[in-house]
Amino acid sequence: MYDSKEIDALKRALEKLSKANPTLPVFESSVDWERIDTVLGQVAGRMHDNYPYHHPLYAGQMLKPPHPVARLAYALSLWVNPNNHALDGGRASSAMEKELIPRIASMWGWDECLGHLTGGGTMANLEALWVAGQLHPGRGIAGSSQAHYTHSRISSVLGLPYQAIDAGPDGRMDTAGLEAALASGDIGTVVVTMGSTGLGAVDPLPAILELRQRYDFRIHADAAYGGYFTLASDLHDDTRNAFDALGAVDSIVIDPHKHGLQPYGCGSVLFRDPGVGRFYKHGSPYTYFSSTELHLGEISLECSRPGAAAVALWATMELLPPKPGGEFAAMLDACLDAARALHDALAKGSLFSPVHVPELDIVVYAVNAASSSTASDLARRVFAAAADKDLHLALIDLPAESCADALPDMARDSKTLSCLRSTLMKPEHADWVDEIVARLNAARQSI
Ligand SMILES: Cc1ncc(COP(=O)(O)O)c(C=O)c1O
Repeated sequence: MYDSKEIDALKRALEKLSKANPTLPVFESSVDWERIDTVLGQVAGRMHDNYPYHHPLYAGQMLKPPHPVARLAYALSLWVNPNNHALDGGRASSAMEKELIPRIASMWGWDECLGHLTGGGTMANLEALWVAGQLHPGRGIAGSSQAHYTHSRISSVLGLPYQAIDAGPDGRMDTAGLEAALASGDIGTVVVTMGSTGLGAVDPLPAILELRQRYDFRIHADAAYGGYFTLASDLHDDTRNAFDALGAVDSIVIDPHKHGLQPYGCGSVLFRDPGVGRFYKHGSPYTYFSSTELHLGEISLECSRPGAAAVALWATMELLPPKPGGEFAAMLDACLDAARALHDALAKGSLFSPVHVPELDIVVYAVNAASSSTASDLARRVFAAAADKDLHLALIDLPAESCADALPDMARDSKTLSCLRSTLMKPEHADWVDEIVARLNAARQSI
């Protein structure tokens, strides 16, 4: 979990950082190291009460350990504790944030754009839908029934009507259903999910873009989880075509704290038209005096934001540039390989059945049983039995009807089917699939 080389690297960097401000007189603050030690020991003890997120046998929720360079750069910056609200609070970290936004945007070919980091995907989506609402006042937001629940909640916060469009069994938005909703003229913005939280499904963006020839609407891509997969080398054709069309949307959310190797507290929102910055315009009696240059607080709804998040992401992108064919892209390929290998192994075995072909690195599978109610009960029991064997999974409830094609012999005697869900977000997962399957089978056989 922890390598002492990390602390050595941090020490060397801190020594260099300490050389800043050589003309300032020295001062000492009094700190009781003995008590700090005691409290830190308490914290370490309390933190035992967690799932082992860092380990490949954690194959459940969407949780990925940060890269050591991100962790260390974040920690290093805490000795300065910059605030990226205004240049008054964080000059170097604001400059880093401004540098990294176009580098993120280059993944889908935007030369010019407006963007910034946010506390996470929810805040980033809130800003995107807020701008959408400013541009289409009173008109609603539509997203698929598999879109993250945040979109309907955000729409309600913004006072905009929200409409859920059916998704097919593959988890992708049904474009015929979307067209019917657009024909009403009430929809101002469509949220296209580029990797759904449940199944990792990518909405059919090219077909949705075609609808823009007939209807007037804005497209916001929620690529919070899936966005980085645009760098992967071997996506299925439909998925590749959707990612290749990403440059044509109006706004994009991508979360470095999901697949971008960052600690939590790092989402981002980017707008194709930098002109939308006008909606953020505000004065501040307290800040913005230190420079006539752009202060990030002038284009962001959050005021204080951790400069540490920008420092960590900048360092990570410097070490692992987000380029097709590079080391970072290879990590995403490894996650895809792991998901496909798990899917294939489960499909070949007799105890579980995948309910979809994974588009990204999420695999959802049912426990084989005669009926959906029994399969749901077994899924919950396998979930607990696997945890006893140090294999940590997640659960998902799907409409039982949506699994009819994948599970033709299972009687659907309940509205929903509980399935097991594994997000294989660590490149190391690729080497652990056999072990994961062995423990899964053992967990099923133990109940
Ligand atoms: C597609 C998608 N959008 C939005 C979110 C919300 O992001 P956050 O948890 O960073 O607020 C998630 C979280 O899993 C997600 O998967």
